[in-house]
Amino acid sequence: MRITEKYKGQEETVRQIAYIEKAGVYVEALSHKLGRKPACCVTTFGCQMNARDSEKLAGILEKVGYELTEEENADFVIFNTCTVRDNANQRVYGRLGHLNSLKKKNPHMKIALCGCMMQEPSVIDKICQSYRFVDLVFGTHNIYKFAELLVRMFESDQMVVDIWEDTDQIVEDLPVERKYPFKSGINIMFGCNNFCSYCIVPYVRGRERSRSPEDIIAEIKTLVSDGVAEVMLLGQNVNSYGKNLFPPMTFAQLLKEVEQIDGLKRIRFMTSHPKDLSDELIQVMKESKKICRHLHLPLQSGSTRILNAMNRRYTKEQYLALADKIRKEIPDIAITTDIIVGFPGEEAKDVEETIDVIRKVQYDNAFTFIYSKRTGTPAASMENQVPDAVVREGFDRVLKVVQDTARERVGLLQGQVLDALVEEVNEQDQSLMTGRLSNNTIVHFKGDESLIGQIVPIYLKECHGFYYLGEIQE
Ligand code: SAH
Ligand code: SF4
Ligand code: F3S
Repeated sequence: MRITEKYKGQEETVRQIAYIEKAGVYVEALSHKLGRKPACCVTTFGCQMNARDSEKLAGILEKVGYELTEEENADFVIFNTCTVRDNANQRVYGRLGHLNSLKKKNPHMKIALCGCMMQEPSVIDKICQSYRFVDLVFGTHNIYKFAELLVRMFESDQMVVDIWEDTDQIVEDLPVERKYPFKSGINIMFGCNNFCSYCIVPYVRGRERSRSPEDIIAEIKTLVSDGVAEVMLLGQNVNSYGKNLFPPMTFAQLLKEVEQIDGLKRIRFMTSHPKDLSDELIQVMKESKKICRHLHLPLQSGSTRILNAMNRRYTKEQYLALADKIRKEIPDIAITTDIIVGFPGEEAKDVEETIDVIRKVQYDNAFTFIYSKRTGTPAASMENQVPDAVVREGFDRVLKVVQDTARERVGLLQGQVLDALVEEVNEQDQSLMTGRLSNNTIVHFKGDESLIGQIVPIYLKECHGFYYLGEIQE
């Protein structure tokens, strides 16, 4: 089949495939010069969506002739950045300093930066002024142009910077190099329209756009025929999937279609905004054989007053009622959450409300974050910012309760036999394999590499806080 026929109606995909070939010529020339295949390293700093983007970058780098490596001392290094909290930014600057010293020893080395942090004009100013050794900078909206940007980079002796403020484009069918052969993330939507007052994501990822169900299903079918057993449907708020499609479609309807795909074993998704979680979704999860028994349902705060200031659009009582309903309908589900401590104006009594919700909902796990002021968000200009010492104290209190309840919840599985998808060899003990239960709990057990990618029944023998030691049930 000719490329142009296969990608009919997708002019941009065809253009980018031409650039992949062109970039390949430059990499080939470099390969001759070096006397070996040039190496490239893709580093992910952010969330699952960021990680999925990295797989797209890796797919193109491999296609143009690079060999992927984990080593940062490579011929092409790209940092896929995150800016959700300031510490993510600081890590990037720290690691860039190290790259500079590596580049001084390897004159062929190229350095690229992309991802959410690059959508901030102040970051671009700083890179252009103080990090002149960077070769290529682009953002989140034009990632599909990576091959084209690589060509520009090879043809320029100056830093190439290409940042777009927003886009409505979704470019399909470009190469992807998956990190795991047996599981994969799938973007079902991009961007976010919620504008929680602390959050920078809507500014750096743009407005919400859903992919068509046909494209999503086709991608999953291809993945399944390539050995994928588990997919994770990705979006900042999957519960509002499909609202802007014509004809509109709900997330629950999409899940039902994904469930029909033969050979697919497990379905996960994230993230669910509590304000949009429908009864229809709960029923679809309840009746499904493939949707995993895990729901990530970010709380952020248990205080209605703070939730209001955060623009989350639910109250403490609404959240509790929702969690209750889910637990009643699907008793074996694990609920996990995200919590922010130290939002402007938060007082000790608000932190107590958060702790109250943790005790009532009994999370299986919770990510607790210290509030980070993000320039340009409404919360950053609120006057009542909380002093660090007070935040720290509240954070420690929340963390203690989260850990105690999670330990208790995970302990409830003791003695059961549950299916685990075998993911990898245990890093600490090579005789053990690591698997993941439907409810997202990790289990380690004796086994060999041939099991990777299979779903096996495991007897959950000993609970070690947040994970289990188990045995394969023959
Ligand atoms: N779309 C997802 C969250 C994406 S960001 C949702 O709505 O749940 C992941 C988590 O980072 C958020 O749930 C929140 O807990 C945290 N986060 C976002 N902005 C933050 C900030 N400014 N400071 C601290 N934590 C933040
Ligand atoms: Fe950020 Fe809120 Fe959108 Fe999540 S829903 S990405 S927290 S603005
Ligand atoms: Fe994800 Fe960080 Fe961007 S959390 S969407 S990579 S700001």
